Amino acid sequence: MTVSLSINSISAHYGKTAVLQDLSLSVEAGELVSLLGSSGCGKTTTLRLVAGFLQPTSGAIKLGDRDLTTLPAHARDIGLVFQNYALFPHLTVLENVAFGLKQRRIPTQERRLKAADMLERVGLSGLGDRLPGALSGGQKQRVALARALVIEPPLLMFDEPLSNLDAKLRVDMRVEIRQLQRANGTTSLYVTHDQEEAFSISDRVAIMNAGRIMQLDTPETLYRKPANGFVARFVGFENLLRLRVVERESAFVTAEAGGGARITLSQDAFGPIPDDFVLGCRADGLSVRREGDGLPAVLGTRTYLGRAYQYQCRTPAGAIVANGALSEPMAAGGSAVLVPMPEQCCILKPEG
Ligand SMILES: Nc1ncnc2c1ncn2[C@@H]1O[C@H](COP(=O)(O)OP(=O)(O)O)[C@@H](O)[C@H]1O
Ligand SMILES: [Mg+2]
Repeated sequence: MTVSLSINSISAHYGKTAVLQDLSLSVEAGELVSLLGSSGCGKTTTLRLVAGFLQPTSGAIKLGDRDLTTLPAHARDIGLVFQNYALFPHLTVLENVAFGLKQRRIPTQERRLKAADMLERVGLSGLGDRLPGALSGGQKQRVALARALVIEPPLLMFDEPLSNLDAKLRVDMRVEIRQLQRANGTTSLYVTHDQEEAFSISDRVAIMNAGRIMQLDTPETLYRKPANGFVARFVGFENLLRLRVVERESAFVTAEAGGGARITLSQDAFGPIPDDFVLGCRADGLSVRREGDGLPAVLGTRTYLGRAYQYQCRTPAGAIVANGALSEPMAAGGSAVLVPMPEQCCILKPEG
């Protein structure tokens, strides 16, 4: 049975401090959605509300057609995987995995079979008799994963499950989590502050800031078409250039940046351009040329990136970072033109 999770306009407070404000989010049946944001933005608080460890001050949470909002935590049937594993140190690996089955009064024999089977699926067969203290971090996290999966919960939630593992293991484990989640079709809510992890593991990602969701979309859309300046900066658009349209000529728009520099953009390539807008581009999204129609710049420090040269540029509109071709290194102090590449740029509404 796969069900959807819907979080409807919830707010949460610790004492008098508002932590989440009017947050809404839905996870479709079988989907994995991540909450991504810097420390303190409210990711764990959101999970605690869904798990029932914290009560919202307003709003509702539903799993399928069950209203969870007032159900006690133990009645919510959610599988949880935490950063610190939270294994029972005095129980063997097998007993840890079987724990939830015991609570659900599954008979001993069936419990052992199910737990052993799940241990095999997470690559730990043979370790069932060990105590958690005799496992590596990666093995402990696999036990925690097996323990969450074995109860076949309608919803799985992960809170920074890989943060205590080394880099290589983090990558392996996230692939394994994704495979198990896909194979079981378990609706999942995953929390991380690591963009690469969130993008690689998720169907959709919610980028959070200060208790709000700034954008919820597929990783591809977030990466290429951020909806606002916050998300654009978050996904690496180094250059956000405020522009005002001064002339429109069929599909072509001439816009002026600070300092009076002008560039002409085609709406056929960039999409509709409002009178007042922000052009977002990564360093890779600006082509550095000796001449042409673009933003005039004086090249500053050049660094070698392997795939390109990166230039710190001075322009009438301020400092800009742009990458130029390896075939044509240009000297610091020289002048150049920066040409935005439409497919790598985004057009945003100005903020404030
Ligand atoms: N038990 C608590 N009491 C008071 N404030 C808390 C408590 N837990 C978290 N906070 C505050 O709530 C905000 C959100 O925290 P949290 O949800 O843990 O963020 P994240 O998981 O995204 O790092 C932070 O400002 C944090 O300091
Ligand atoms: Mg947290």
